[in-house]
Amino acid sequence: MYVCLCQGVTNETVSAAIVAGASTPKQVSAACGAGSECGRCCRTIRSIIDSVSTTTESGRGRRV
Ligand code: FES
Repeated sequence: MYVCLCQGVTNETVSAAIVAGASTPKQVSAACGAGSECGRCCRTIRSIIDSVSTTTESGRGRRV
């Protein structure tokens, strides 16, 4: 599913950026471009950060 229409970024790409270490919308934007234009997708990006962080927290010991 596309998360950022301005940049054509999908939720898989955003999730990969988060797993690779991005923990804020700004860092996700730097990693894959999502949220770097109109900003309408920032709320969705934040939700994905929360979701992926919760999922990976127990498995990788990573806390955001
Ligand atoms: S929809 Fe993501 S920056 Fe516009």
